Amino acid sequence: MQKRIIALLLVVLMVVLSGCAGKTTEPSKTNEGTEAVKTQVIKVAFNQPENHPQYKAMQQFGEKVFERTNGAYKIEIFPNELLGPQRETVELVQTGAIGMSIVANSLVENFNKKFSILGLPYIYDSKEHQNAVFTDDTIVGDLFKSTADNNFIVLTAFHAGARNVYTNKAINTPADLKGLKIRIMESDTNIKMMKYMGGVGTPMGQGEVYTATQSGVIDGGENNELIYANMKHYEVAKVYSYTQHLMIPDLLIINKALYEGMSEEHKAIFNEEIKNATTAEVDLWEVDAEVAKKTAQDNGAQFVYPDIKAFQESVKPLHDELTQDPEFKKLYDAIRAKAETVKK
Ligand code: GCU
Repeated sequence: MQKRIIALLLVVLMVVLSGCAGKTTEPSKTNEGTEAVKTQVIKVAFNQPENHPQYKAMQQFGEKVFERTNGAYKIEIFPNELLGPQRETVELVQTGAIGMSIVANSLVENFNKKFSILGLPYIYDSKEHQNAVFTDDTIVGDLFKSTADNNFIVLTAFHAGARNVYTNKAINTPADLKGLKIRIMESDTNIKMMKYMGGVGTPMGQGEVYTATQSGVIDGGENNELIYANMKHYEVAKVYSYTQHLMIPDLLIINKALYEGMSEEHKAIFNEEIKNATTAEVDLWEVDAEVAKKTAQDNGAQFVYPDIKAFQESVKPLHDELTQDPEFKKLYDAIRAKAETVKK
């Protein structure tokens, strides 16, 4: 714990000494005689490794932005929680210590509960449906700007696979989850979701899941195949059951002043390129998830495929509860209506 605090202080110090990410400028290389373009470096916090599809999509975004703004903006990604766990990086973005971070939707729900609609269990029919929602400004545009009072806005929502439960036994029905403590992300909606699904949701940061499962503090977790394999969770929870309960996105957040300080032309480039990266990431995901699954299987993990109908039924009260507010219901209906426009 103490080590972690010291590490975090060092990170903050590093960021501060480097002149505040997102505000750092460096002259970009120009031919002699031409006027130097000032390059603004935007630091992006990311809690997963360089092989992750979101990292690759952000790299692509960075290249395009650099090229199309003629070197005015350079995107620098810090993977593997180098700038701290997600919750803390939200604060770094809010203060402007860093420019951007990729954080789970669940964390942003704590600023505006309406985001919980984007993270409802079984709300999307497919990843294509989800992508159509995330790239449609008439559905998500206002929502993404709604956190401006908290000094950040959301630039996009990235696909993050489907989440499935893993523990040391097969989960085929909600009854199989009875009494099991399953780690969930830190949000009220997730706690309720796990209760409706039959288990006991235990919120904690992703980095603590391995040890907590190993020591028996929890019985397992729920996550996509990439985390299950990359973080070697299969070593402590051997059965991965395809409950497919959540297709919850990760949000790319940006410091408000940084975004608002851009010219209209640059804003348009950011918006266009982030939509391209959002769509490209969905395809990258498929390939990487297969590789991750194979790695887990090779290391002894078992994959089981329950009939998900009982789980879908079990979480319906959560849909009803969250759509009581007419504004929430409007967003919910727009998401569901979009499903009809997407070929299955
Ligand atoms: C997913 C998600 C991350 C999140 C993690 C978690 O991997 O992409 O943003 O941190 O789950 O369970 O905490």
